[in-house]
Amino acid sequence: MFNGKSILLGVSGGIAAYKAAELARSFIREGAGVQVVMTAGAQRFITPLTLQVLSEQPVATDLFDPGLESQIGHIQMARAAHLVVVAPATANVLAKAAAGLADDYLTTVLLATTAPVLFCPAMNTRMLEHPATRRSLETLRQLGYSVLEPDAGQLACGEEGAGRLPDPPVILEAACRLLTPPSLQGRRFLVSAGPTWEPLDPVRFITNPSSGKMGFALARMAARRGAEVTLVSGPSSLASPTGISTVRVRTALDMEQAVLEHARNMDAIIMTAAVGDYRPAHAASQKIKKSSDTMTIPLIRNPDILASLGKSRPHGVRQVLVGFAAETEHLIENAREKLIQKNLDFIVANNLGESGSGFGVDTNRVKIIDPTGAIEELPMLTKDEVAARILDRVESILS
Ligand code: CTP
Repeated sequence: MFNGKSILLGVSGGIAAYKAAELARSFIREGAGVQVVMTAGAQRFITPLTLQVLSEQPVATDLFDPGLESQIGHIQMARAAHLVVVAPATANVLAKAAAGLADDYLTTVLLATTAPVLFCPAMNTRMLEHPATRRSLETLRQLGYSVLEPDAGQLACGEEGAGRLPDPPVILEAACRLLTPPSLQGRRFLVSAGPTWEPLDPVRFITNPSSGKMGFALARMAARRGAEVTLVSGPSSLASPTGISTVRVRTALDMEQAVLEHARNMDAIIMTAAVGDYRPAHAASQKIKKSSDTMTIPLIRNPDILASLGKSRPHGVRQVLVGFAAETEHLIENAREKLIQKNLDFIVANNLGESGSGFGVDTNRVKIIDPTGAIEELPMLTKDEVAARILDRVESILS
């Protein structure tokens, strides 16, 4: 996510400061170089040494440090950073930054940098809701800073409410969005993901091993590029991605309803969901008891959601329609037939038999086929990378 990027991590003095250690590690794991700056308050909660060891760089704490400042270190740091993340950001730091005060290392760097800045406020709910803090946040937004909404839950003070520092993956995603060119700004995307559950009785259902990873990756990557994304997901254990409107459904019929409801104003619709083609004709209202040695379950066809989108494509506006083809044999022929039958802009063909490809894994090797018959064969890539290639294509069709 952050290869070659320098992140300046500002840590201020709230109890969540201890989480800065994991956050610094997470950035480094994703390829970033991390320079930590701590306020005096932060050093009461976590030692600079901890963050120095994790970031493999001296931590800046003192604006008048003769070592760091012999080269005017705060200006150099402000210049070198591709992104500044203040996590946790206390009410005090927010107020100082909003007022333009620069009385310590962190607030001085904040004034000196031209890099994007992400504030991650974390504090007691009443402090967060105080009109003075609200005003600071409002001012910061007006000044062009980004603010990540705190999570709600149990706070360190024992109270319940908003004010928790979001977990590192949420902060990393918000940070990544600030560093990604907004090439899909103003575009609306609908992505379907995951399997469907077709119930036999209240405790059993027919499904498939789809994890939802490909669809969630597409939704996340489109949002990183600035798109407004709606994700319709069948049952998946993946957490709803931040900043993406996620509609959770169970059956193919539910998925059809949700997709058709949202489809109209979309610039692009990408169906990665492994939709059950059939459902039991009758779902028993109580648990089915075993009786005879064999059992036959009549199944009926589910609607083909993508085919119906392909049939009723809007006139006069460009709506890109993308399908996936999950195959175990005759990959190209089968995928090509689906591309034509479902009236798609292109189809992503997936060989389920290949290791490292298809359901549940983090990688995928796919072939992209367009209506001219051209085939683009992608190497084994992470699902995020596959998503990026698919979005590049959607972007070029849209433009
Ligand atoms: N799809 C859909 N509704 C269905 C079945 C599939 O919208 N009832 C979509 C999938 O999301 C995918 C594409 O159609 O984008 C192809 O799905 P796939 O399961 O590969 O093929 P099917 O069309 O179901 O055909 P078959 O199962 O016979 O291979």
